[in-house]
Amino acid sequence: MIFFIKEKQNFKKGFPVFLCFLFVLVVFLSSCNNSEQPTFTNRIASIVYKNCTPCHRSGEAGGYSFVTYEEISKHADLIAAVTKDGYMPPWPADTAYSRFCDEFVLTQSELQALQLWAESGAPLGDENNIPKSPEFFVDSIHEKPDLILKMTKSFFIKGDNADKFMIAKLPYEIAHDTFIRAIEFVPGNRKLLHHMNGHLVSYPEGKKKNVSDGEHLVEMNMDTDQILIYQRLGLQNDDGTFPALTPSVINYLPGVISTVYPEGIGGYRMSKKGAFLLKDLHYGPTPVSDSDQSVIKVYFGNKPPKRPTNELILGTLGVSEVLPPLQIPPDEVSSFSTEITTTEKISLLTVNPHLHLLGKSFKGYAIKPNGDTIPLVRINKWDFRWQYFYTYKKPVIIPKGSRICAEAVFDNTTSNPNNPFSPPRQVGERNTSMRTTDEMFQFIITFLPYRRGDENISLEH
Ligand code: HEC
Repeated sequence: MIFFIKEKQNFKKGFPVFLCFLFVLVVFLSSCNNSEQPTFTNRIASIVYKNCTPCHRSGEAGGYSFVTYEEISKHADLIAAVTKDGYMPPWPADTAYSRFCDEFVLTQSELQALQLWAESGAPLGDENNIPKSPEFFVDSIHEKPDLILKMTKSFFIKGDNADKFMIAKLPYEIAHDTFIRAIEFVPGNRKLLHHMNGHLVSYPEGKKKNVSDGEHLVEMNMDTDQILIYQRLGLQNDDGTFPALTPSVINYLPGVISTVYPEGIGGYRMSKKGAFLLKDLHYGPTPVSDSDQSVIKVYFGNKPPKRPTNELILGTLGVSEVLPPLQIPPDEVSSFSTEITTTEKISLLTVNPHLHLLGKSFKGYAIKPNGDTIPLVRINKWDFRWQYFYTYKKPVIIPKGSRICAEAVFDNTTSNPNNPFSPPRQVGERNTSMRTTDEMFQFIITFLPYRRGDENISLEH
């Protein structure tokens, strides 16, 4: 630009140079995709394949399948509309605060391209250069699973507008002891299944004849003794003692996509005989009867897990108190917080903010002993439907003696369209209830004790 202004003073002499500059500029602009008429081939396919197709293909949650040009162009106007108003792709975390793996986020220019494409009639473009649609494994996060276990019985969800809490046992028997690299949970009913916390039961050699003993689906009554439930499920060894239980090997919340760590991080030992225990299987209220038969997919590893991950829950049912106690008065917007202090230096892998329907916003951060703040996650507009386990691109290193803090704002007024009560009622934590209409405030973190070099590990795949 400076060059241009200078030349302007001596117009005659500068004119050919200016023409030359203009020519270069035109060539440059026309070779630059962004200003070109967006077509399916030159721009739209790659945007949709990255940000939409993972959930919009057969067997996935998104209803519409967006794989071929026909499927995508047919819905160009709808795609333009849902992206313009920010409804899709679903990514509640503020990317200006912290960044994660596998973000579903459109840049301003991608957003504009989708609008422009729809307005101009969704052209295909150069049909010889259509990008290949991405390869996905049906119903699967990555390659073919080594073991697929389905709930032995489908759960009939009665349409009585009441929350339901179940425990399912998925027994298995394999050829020999092995290692688990990753576990994937595929809900059979994504509309109604709100939560699941999966544990792994391992029977030592010779301790259990028939892993299928007992009931496979039991209602989880909050007041019933847990041991009684475990006995009904036939979890005990043949001598009546209980086998080892590895807690929280897999968790599900609305929209969660399973996390897969690089080899060497996470993973579990898996004995020849055992069972997955799907606890806290929580189905939201529905007026229409429905059913669920969820599936667990297991990916075996070759090596023993070197660095098992640790999980910590802050807040409701967790290790730190919610302050003030989580009681949300009607017709008010109120704020709560919870925090812990780290007793060792840690490498933080994932964070999962969890609230229910009254959630309005959420913020998680760490404060180092020297006073510096490490931003962890910020959700400016809470959305109950998308509660990812956000995975950092690289572990976030948090020094020993840091405070890990979470702040949640709840909107218990009539202006919250998700408020389950009209007029609003006092809502809060109730005993150990996890009903959708009661509230929870949790910040779940997964981490490793720090090791030198952790800051350079890539968690992307
Ligand atoms: C993480 C999964 C996920 C991603 C990524 C995603 N969607 Fe969706 N989408 C869904 C689900 C699930 C629904 C069903 C609606 C619901 O339950 O809220 C949906 C619904 C829709 C609908 C139907 C809206 C209606 O009114 O019926 C459209 C259109 C849509 N998505 C377009 C897109 C587009 C375009 C993208 C990419 C820019 C995208 N989605 C990315 C999961 C996803």
